[in-house]
This record gives sequence, C-alpha cells and structure tokens, in this order.
Amino acid sequence: MLHSRPVVQKCLILYPTKQYNFTCGCPGLDEVSPIPLLFWFMTAYELRSKYIAFFKSKDHAQIQGKSLLPDNDPTVLFTTAGMHPLVPYLLGEDHPAGNRLVDYQKCIRTGDIDVVGDTSHLTFFEMLGNWSLGDYFKEGAIEMSFEFLTAPEWLGISLERIGVTVFEGDATVARDEESAAVWKRLGIPESRISYRPRADNWWGPAGATGPCGPDSEMFIDMEKEPCGPACAPGCSCGKWLEIWNDVFMQYHKNAPEEYTPLARQCVDTGMGIERTVTILNGKTSVYDTELFAPIIAAVEQAAAYHYGSDPDKDRSVRIICDHVRAATFILGDPKGVSPSNVGAGYVLRRLIRRAVRHGLKLGIHGTLLSPIAQVIIDQMSGPYPELTENRLFVRTELDKEEGRFLETLQKGEQEFEKLLPSLRQDSRKIMSGRLAFKLYDTYGFPIELTEELAAEQGMTVNRPEFEKAFKQHQELSRAGSEQLFKGGLVDQGIMAVKYHTATHLLHQALRTVLGKHVAQKGSNITAERMRFDFSHGAAMSAEEIAQVQALVNEQIQRDLPVTMTMMGLDEAKASGAIALFGEKYESQVKVYTIGDDSHGVFSKEVCGGPHVDRTGTLGTFKIQKEQSSSAGVRRIRAVLE
Ligand code: ALA
Repeated sequence: MLHSRPVVQKCLILYPTKQYNFTCGCPGLDEVSPIPLLFWFMTAYELRSKYIAFFKSKDHAQIQGKSLLPDNDPTVLFTTAGMHPLVPYLLGEDHPAGNRLVDYQKCIRTGDIDVVGDTSHLTFFEMLGNWSLGDYFKEGAIEMSFEFLTAPEWLGISLERIGVTVFEGDATVARDEESAAVWKRLGIPESRISYRPRADNWWGPAGATGPCGPDSEMFIDMEKEPCGPACAPGCSCGKWLEIWNDVFMQYHKNAPEEYTPLARQCVDTGMGIERTVTILNGKTSVYDTELFAPIIAAVEQAAAYHYGSDPDKDRSVRIICDHVRAATFILGDPKGVSPSNVGAGYVLRRLIRRAVRHGLKLGIHGTLLSPIAQVIIDQMSGPYPELTENRLFVRTELDKEEGRFLETLQKGEQEFEKLLPSLRQDSRKIMSGRLAFKLYDTYGFPIELTEELAAEQGMTVNRPEFEKAFKQHQELSRAGSEQLFKGGLVDQGIMAVKYHTATHLLHQALRTVLGKHVAQKGSNITAERMRFDFSHGAAMSAEEIAQVQALVNEQIQRDLPVTMTMMGLDEAKASGAIALFGEKYESQVKVYTIGDDSHGVFSKEVCGGPHVDRTGTLGTFKIQKEQSSSAGVRRIRAVLE
C-alpha cells in the first residue's frame, strides 16, 4: 500500500551522493524526469511495506505484531523486541502460520529513560523482523538481509556503506566463520567484517536457561572520520550505526557456561525502523526524520520556540517527543495501563512527568501532552489502528496525570518554603544536595526548579552533592531495571506453564459463576503466583469466590486432558472458543481445549500455549485476593499449592 502523499514529495533530491545515483522508480516519474533522481526519500510507511513485501516474496507469512504489554511473562514489563511474543515458537512450539514469518512490532526499552534526549536513544521504537523456525539458517538469513539492504528495488543502500560484525568465539563457542564467509562471498570486504566478543554479538536468554546464539549485526557507515586505527563496525564512536541484527539461535543454555546444540535451529532478526529511516533520509539523527517532524512541530508551536536555536532547549524538545510517543503507545495499547506506582504503570508515570517537566523548562504552561499525543495518533494509526480506537483513553489519562503532577509540583514548592527557615540559618547560603535530591525523589521536584527557588532566597544548591545522590539512585534503579528489561528469551519454567493452564480454568470458572460478561483484561504470571484481571462491575462476594475456587479445583481433580487444535479464527470463534477482545490473531490459530468428549469440555480458548498435558498436575488452586483493578475491572491473585 502506498501512503497518500503526492509522489513528487517522496522523490525530493535531498542527499545527492553517488551511492544513491539510480532512477527513482516512482510510478510515472521516471518517464517524465529528464534527469535521474538522485535520492529516494523513503518514509517509515514505505519501509514497513517494503520489508513485509520482500519477505513475503521469500515465502514468509506476515503475522500481526502483538501488544506492548506481554502476558504471562514475568521477566519483562514491555515487549522489548519483535521476538518477544514469539518465544514459545522459538522454544519449539509450532507456529500456526508456518516456519517463515515476518512482522513489524512496537517495542519499548526503558533502561535508558534518563539518557533519552541525545540524538539517537528512543524509548519507543518499531522493529521489523523475519523468523525462521527450523527452516533457513545463517546463509539464508544473511543472503536475504544483504539483498534487502542493497538491491535497488528494495533499499538500494550502497555496498560501500555497509559493515558487519560476527561473533569472535570464546572458550565455549567457536568463532562464527560460517557467517563471515557468507558476508565475504556477497562482497563485504574483510576490512568491514569485525569479529566481536560475546558482550556485543550474542543474543541470550534473560533467564538462567534457554535457546541462544551468536548474532551478526549490520551497520551503516555514517561517513565520519574513524575515531582511531581500531575503529570498525561495532565501534560506538558514532561512525557506525547499527540498523539490523540477525540472531542465530543455535544453542541451548543449560547452565552458566554450558551450551548444547539445539535440535531445531532458528533465526530471529530485528531491523530498527527509526534508524533505518534516518539512513534512508540521509540524516544523522532519528529526530530529523519525517517520523518526528510533525511531533517536533507540535512542541515548537506549544513552546513558541524554534527547534535548532538552543542545544539545551532542543534536548527538552526531544525528550517531550520521545516520552509522549512512548506514553501514547502504552496508553493506546489494547492492554493499555494507567499511570500508577508499580510496574508498567510506573514507567508510564515517569515518562509523562519527565515530559511535563521539560515542557515547563520550555515555558509551556497549560495542557501540553494530549494535543501532542493527538498528532502521534493521527500519524501512526495506519499501522496501529488501536491508537484511534483508544484515543479518548490516551488523551484523558494524559490530561489527568499532567494535572496531578502539576499539583505535586505545587506541593513541592510548599515543602520548599517549609524548609526555608532552617536553610536561612546556613551562613554559607548553600542548600544541601541531599535535601534537593529528597525534593526530587519524594515530590518529583526538578532540581532546576529547586535551584531557581533557592536563587530567589540568595542561595545556591550543592549541585555535586545532588548529582552524587542522583547517581547512586540511578545505579540502583538501573541494576533493577536491567534485570527487568534486558531483552532475550524467557525461561518458561514448569510453574509458569501450570499457572498458564490455571488461568484458563479460572477464566471459565468466572464465566460460569458470574456470567458471560466476564472477559480477560490482563494476566501476569510468575513462578510463584498468578494474577488475573477481568471485567466485572462489582466486588465478588465471599460465596462467589469460594464457588469459583471450588470449580477450578474440581477440574484439577478430574485430571482433564489439555489438547491443542489448529483452526481458522472464525472457525475457532464459531466453535465457542474464547478469543480475547482487542487482541490481534493470525488467520490460523491454536485452540486449547480442557476436557474432552468423555469428560465433557470445560474450557476452550484461543491461545499460543504452552500448557500442561493434564490438569491433575496443577496442585491445589487457592484465591488469595480479589480486589478492584480499575473501573469495571477486578483482579484476582491466586496460587497453586
Ligand atoms: N532480537 C534481536 C534484537 O532485538 C533481533 O536485536
């Protein structure tokens, strides 16, 4: 599908360098243009379409990208890579759409929130991915990546600008000569093939065990001077920009430092849309691309400020753009959450508050976020129609949280005033950095504002002390968030699988006891417990809770078989299988049935699995808590004992 802009706009001559010296191929334009057009200005929209079309032409089935908020996965708060929703299939489950897959996936990585503001880090980004589930491996994956990057009818990137990295090998796993040989055969010279260690070229499980393997990353030469003689693809000096990663799932990690070859080798790849568009637009920063232009324009208008005039203010503009974009996608997700003090809701709160704070720095008072979110919704609802469906929720939640934060800031100001008498006693007129940090940490009170207020009292803030306290805090939270957010494969332990089957039993038991209006709104599983959110207008009575619990335990005692059948989505729905509202499914889906003709069918749900084979293995199901989750949604916490 082409997007609706006039064709001429896409063919602007923006970056006339020799590597783009080919005719543009725009319908009708080559014939009328006497000069070859020098640059194909490719939008994100076209990049998405081209990627999907290319891999479809190579027999891949397009699958739907999934929610940003993963279900049944205790190791991450957000989907961090395209492979994330595919974990069960990479672990050996059959995918209903086949063994060659392609999609685009919305992703969030939050390890870097505090450094967003430079010209390359993003919290929200989109990943294009293709997968082989036991089909092609290194050679096939690299050949296809190469063709898509370089062929004029696809991205047409000059061979001279491409560099790659491959795994250099270590005591446990050999150097990846196979990948290097394929790159060489395709024309990448030895000088632009860089062998790198495990820290750079290995994609592994976040949990203790799971499939993993070496990867080969593709970089674009940003045509800067090398930082030294050792500067090569993979160097972080800014000369090489990574745009794509081919991961070769080759081993199973059994224990630290213990790897055995996988029975079924898989390929997992990920291409960053924003970075690739940057290259294809001849830019050096993601913020200078068409993806960010309308968002920056909206901030410029609100702040009456011209982006590019002041480096400090530009940074604030970028932070607002990035954070509102991420917040819009979190709120606009079919499983969207509200700002809160835990989990994904807390990350959302931090993003919103940081954006508001930078709005204040730009002198913006009044509603900032929701009009910007509307620009993002208009821009992105083609590939992500859920944004339009959820636009009211997005805008209302942003307005509410923005209002709440402004109030908090006011309170912080009052706290500051309370501190004044004791501060005035300090003859040096220096406010302690620890105190300033406390205002920041407890009230979300920005240091810049503390400094401003201190200055009004003729005081300064001990900034080094503040920075020190801030850094300590950051290190602590980073250590925590690395554990939470590191991408990679999930170690799906047996308890998680048991809880997953218990979730289906609970869902059906609630529908039997409370009524058919009950629908799953969310679910979260760890090895220790399950949480289940569902639509229901009132608190459950003690009797209802006891009934539901007994019904689940009854199915466990009956030791019902759990079976899977693959069928069309319509057929699945017609057969009475529950499908989650708002969730996107492939045309062919897996239906898990608990029970059978001889026992009677208790539950039937569309689901990716995995599940236990028989309910008898689950143990005793116990509801620990039933409480409100949000308006019209209840939450049950339960354990298997
Ligand atoms: N999962 C791989 C990555 O995110 C492709 O880099």
